[in-house]
Amino acid sequence: MSQQHLAAPADETAVATVAQHRDWWRGAVIYQVYPRSFADSNGDGMGDLEGVRARLPYLRDLGVDAVWLSPFYASPQADAGYDVADYRAVDPMFGNLLDADALIRDAHGLGLRIIVDLVPNHSSDQHEWFKRALAEGPGSPLRERYHFRPGKGKNGELPPNDWESIFGGPAWTRVTEPDGTPGEWYLHLFAPEQPDFNWEHPAVGDEFRSILRFWLDMGVDGFRIDVAHGLVKAEGLPDLGDHDQLKLLGNDVMPFFDQDGVHEVYRQWRTVLDEYAGDRIFVAEAWTPTVERTAHYVRPDELHQAFNFQYLSTDWDADELRVVIDRTLDAMRPVGAPATWVLSNHDVTRHATRFANPPGLGTQIRTEGDRALGLRRARAATLLMLALPGSAYLYQGEELGLPDVVDLPDEVRQDPAYFRGAGQDGFRDGCRVPIPWTRTGSSYGFGTGGSWLPQPANWGELSVEAQTGDPHSTLELYRAALAARREHPSLGAGESLEWLPAPDGVLSFRRGEFVCVANTTTTPVTVPSPGRVLLTSGEVTTTGTETTLPADTTVWWTTA
Ligand code: NOJ
Repeated sequence: MSQQHLAAPADETAVATVAQHRDWWRGAVIYQVYPRSFADSNGDGMGDLEGVRARLPYLRDLGVDAVWLSPFYASPQADAGYDVADYRAVDPMFGNLLDADALIRDAHGLGLRIIVDLVPNHSSDQHEWFKRALAEGPGSPLRERYHFRPGKGKNGELPPNDWESIFGGPAWTRVTEPDGTPGEWYLHLFAPEQPDFNWEHPAVGDEFRSILRFWLDMGVDGFRIDVAHGLVKAEGLPDLGDHDQLKLLGNDVMPFFDQDGVHEVYRQWRTVLDEYAGDRIFVAEAWTPTVERTAHYVRPDELHQAFNFQYLSTDWDADELRVVIDRTLDAMRPVGAPATWVLSNHDVTRHATRFANPPGLGTQIRTEGDRALGLRRARAATLLMLALPGSAYLYQGEELGLPDVVDLPDEVRQDPAYFRGAGQDGFRDGCRVPIPWTRTGSSYGFGTGGSWLPQPANWGELSVEAQTGDPHSTLELYRAALAARREHPSLGAGESLEWLPAPDGVLSFRRGEFVCVANTTTTPVTVPSPGRVLLTSGEVTTTGTETTLPADTTVWWTTA
C-alpha cells in the first residue's frame, strides 16, 4: 500500500514499520487516549500532546494498531474539549500544531496510525462564528449557522420547543441582545457552552469539509465523529410531546438524533476522504436505537466503522452477549462493514467497575462493588472481545484493569452534566482520572506536578511499572492478547463465527483454527479441550482431554 499519505517519521529508517495492509482498520485494535489524563510533559497537572508522544513506544509495545485522541483543539474546556473554539488550533494546555505534527510523524514511524476527534454537532460558545452571531444581534447572518429562534409565550420567555439537553435542563438558552434586552434562544443539545450548528446552512458543510482537509493534510489517518447521529434535526424542530426524553434516548429515533438526512453529510465527507492517498477512516459515535440503524452509518459510501454501544451496554451475561454479538454481525454483514467492539470509553463507568456491580445498573455507576470480581470479569470480557471478528476499541487504563474512581469529592468534579442535574448522572470524571505509570512519585509518573483529578492511594500498585513483567498482571494479559492477534491476523478478521455447543452461561465459538470459551457463570465449568491453550484470563486446569474454567474466565485455544 502507498505510504505517501503518512507524514514522514523523524527517523526515516523506521519507515518500514508503517507499512500496513490495506483495510488495516477492519481488524484493528484502536486505543483511545484521553489527552488530559494520559501523560503530562510539563508538570502543569494536565496531560498534553508531548506527553502522548513520549509514551508512543509504550503503545507500540502494547500492540495496538492505532491511537484515537480525544479533542485537543483550542477550547474553553466547558466539556473537556468537546466544546471547540478553533478547529484548526491546538489548545495551549495541550501544546501547539508543531507538537501535533511531531506526534503524528513519530506515531507513523512506530507503525501506529492516528485518529483525531471531530466535533461537528456543536462548537464552543467562544467560537468566532457564535461570538459574532451574539454580537451582531437578531437578523445576523451568523445566527443562521446555529439554531436561533424567538421564544414562545407572551414575551418570548419560554423556550422554542420542549427538547432537553443531554446533560440535563432545557436544550435552549436565552441570550441577552446587544441592547441589553432578553432576546432569542439558541439550541444546545449538550451544555449551554456548546451551541448546535445548523447543518442546513451550506457554510457549515463547507467549513467542515475544509477542516477535514486541514487534518488530512497534517497526515492523520482518520476521524472519530462526535455525536455523528445529531447533526441534522427534524424539520421545524418539532416538540417531543408527552414523552419521557430520558427513556426515549437511545431507544427511539428522536427529532434531534438519527435523522435520515445526516447520511448525506457523510456521503459528502467520504468523497473528501477518498481523494487522499492511503487507507484513512471515519468512525461514528452514533447512539442509535438499534445496531441495525447503526449499520446505516457504515454503508459503503459513508463511514467505515461505528462504535457498538449495544455491546458496551451489555451485562456480563452469556445469553445477552450472544444476542448482541449475533445481531451486530448480522447487521454489519449486508453493508460490508466490520463489526466493532468496545467495553469502556471516557463517557461511561469503566468496565472493571461495571462488572463489579450487580447487572442492570447501566453504564453510569457510583459504587465500587466487588473489585476482585470486577477485575476477573473485566479480564475475561476483554479476551472474549478480542476473539470476536472485527475491530476493537480500548480505553486508556483498561489494560491496567483500572477501576472507576467512584469517590471523587464534589469539589474536584468537572463533568458539566454533574452541574446540570437531571440529565445523565454526570459522573464521567471517575473514568478520567490520570493513569498511573510508576509505583511511586508525583502523580505516579503521570507528570511532575500533580494531576488535575486526584488519584487514589492504591494507584501505584496498578501502574505500568508495577504490572510490567508480572505474568499474572492485566497489562501482560493485554500484551499477550494483542501479540497473538498480530501473530494470527485471522483472529480479528472476518465477519462471522461458528457457535459451538456449551453449557448454560458459557459462550463457545470457533474462528478458523481458534476456539474461544467464556464462562460467565459463578461456578467452574468443564469443557472438552479443543486444542492447545493459547491464552487464559485466569487459572484453568487441564486433565486429559478436558479443561476446567473457573467462574468468570475466558480461554483461547488453537487447534493448529
Ligand atoms: C460525546 C463525547 O464522547 C462526550 O464526552 C461529549 O460530552 C459529548 N459527545 C458532547 O460533545
